[in-house]
Amino acid sequence: MEKAIINAKRKKGKISRYIYGQFAEHLGRCIYEGLYVGEDSEIPNINGMRCDVVNALKELEIPVLRWPGGCFADDYHWRDGIGPKESRPYMVNTNWGGVVENNHFGTHEFFELCEQLGTEPYIAGNVGSGTVQEMRDWIEYMTFGGDSPLANERRKNGREEPWKLKWFGVGNENWGCGGNMRPEYYSDLYRRYQTFIRNYGDEPIFKIAGGPGDFNYHWTEVLMREQKNLMDGMSLHYYTFPGDWNEKGDSVVFDDDDWYRTMAKAMKMETAIKNHTAIMDSYDPEKKVSLIVDEWGTWFDVLPGTNPGFLYQQNTIRDAVIAMLTLHIFHAHNDRVLMANIAQMVNVLQAMILTEGEKMVLTPTYHLFRMMKGHMDGELLDVDHTSAAYDCIGVSVPEVSISASEKDGVMTVSAVNTRLDSDKDIELEIRDADFKSVSAELLASSDVHNCNTFDEPEKVKPALLHTAAENGKISFKLPAASAAVLTVTLS
Ligand code: AHR
Repeated sequence: MEKAIINAKRKKGKISRYIYGQFAEHLGRCIYEGLYVGEDSEIPNINGMRCDVVNALKELEIPVLRWPGGCFADDYHWRDGIGPKESRPYMVNTNWGGVVENNHFGTHEFFELCEQLGTEPYIAGNVGSGTVQEMRDWIEYMTFGGDSPLANERRKNGREEPWKLKWFGVGNENWGCGGNMRPEYYSDLYRRYQTFIRNYGDEPIFKIAGGPGDFNYHWTEVLMREQKNLMDGMSLHYYTFPGDWNEKGDSVVFDDDDWYRTMAKAMKMETAIKNHTAIMDSYDPEKKVSLIVDEWGTWFDVLPGTNPGFLYQQNTIRDAVIAMLTLHIFHAHNDRVLMANIAQMVNVLQAMILTEGEKMVLTPTYHLFRMMKGHMDGELLDVDHTSAAYDCIGVSVPEVSISASEKDGVMTVSAVNTRLDSDKDIELEIRDADFKSVSAELLASSDVHNCNTFDEPEKVKPALLHTAAENGKISFKLPAASAAVLTVTLS
């Protein structure tokens, strides 16, 4: 029996809802086909956005959406994506498959998508191949409400009122696809570019510097040393796969060893956050600069027969388990991690949704995000629980990870079992609070390789979980390789 005490009175800070953010790049079939099909498509759409996908995504209450990249951001010139569609210039998407990008999805379409989803926009600007003027003009075009040539151009293109834009990233992976820069060079560029991110709207723009990948602590050191007072956030990218960058592993065909290696690699997110945070703490003990994990998730080899540049993979219970483990890590570091954006929303990497023509399937990761949304903006609660752990590739992986939060008299408790071979009996003791009801959902699969396909779209889906409640304790069985979320209504 795994016992955990949830201390309802011991609150440990708010879990920012932005941790449940998403990312959509001009990559493969994420934007085109996945989200945007154009007004003339046979697929039902509103202003070009496909209704089935938007409606499903609305269920997730997505707090923030990052766009247009990724690597694409540092190749993107926003002027190509405004005005009449037929006169927008084409470009080659050199990062992702060398396909032609017709720029039919641009700034106006992105804000339209955000409005349909009810989500906040987060735009990544172009530092790698764009000018300072281009970036400053884009901000004015989007957010200035007065009389200026740029604001009037926006009006001419159909948008009278300025959009609200809070989140802005100054480049992406500028140590790699965003320019192969040294941190010292990027740091100087950042100082210059951010100067011209002017505040035209009521709310100041939250400036996010292009931060490190993985365990590049030198990058963090330089950015924090040189410009901590000029940034509100610094990004971090970390992806999970059992193999290495050359052979990451298959998204569906994996053995037990691959499973445990994937768990261990996911846990390294914690190492990255702890170590980057320690550097940030040394320069910024007041924690004014937030960590923005604006790319994370599983990255497997592309499905056989698909374009290698499209990063199209399937999604199993392994992805859902990894998602809960990782979200728990973000919860635990809520004093520094303000936002996270899983990569990517549709048809790319650890997607919520996969599409094929007019068909769509919801992935196990979608279900997991839907189940966990009660944590958004909840107060993290102290959970007294020491899980048994196993060692894999030198990383200690908990067999069971539990996280709890409270919001408006409702407690959300999530629990994940990372073992393939043993079910866990869990007993939660709720201290210092009484509860009147419990409902619970379980995401599990009879075979961990199952995935939702266009022929069998509901192979992996949540089911009701039976719980027993007595004397302030809630008990339930957490099967091997599964994730559960309990909603506990307090009296
Ligand atoms: O999400 C896919 C790619 O991964 C992004 O474009 C890039 O930023 C990262 O390397």
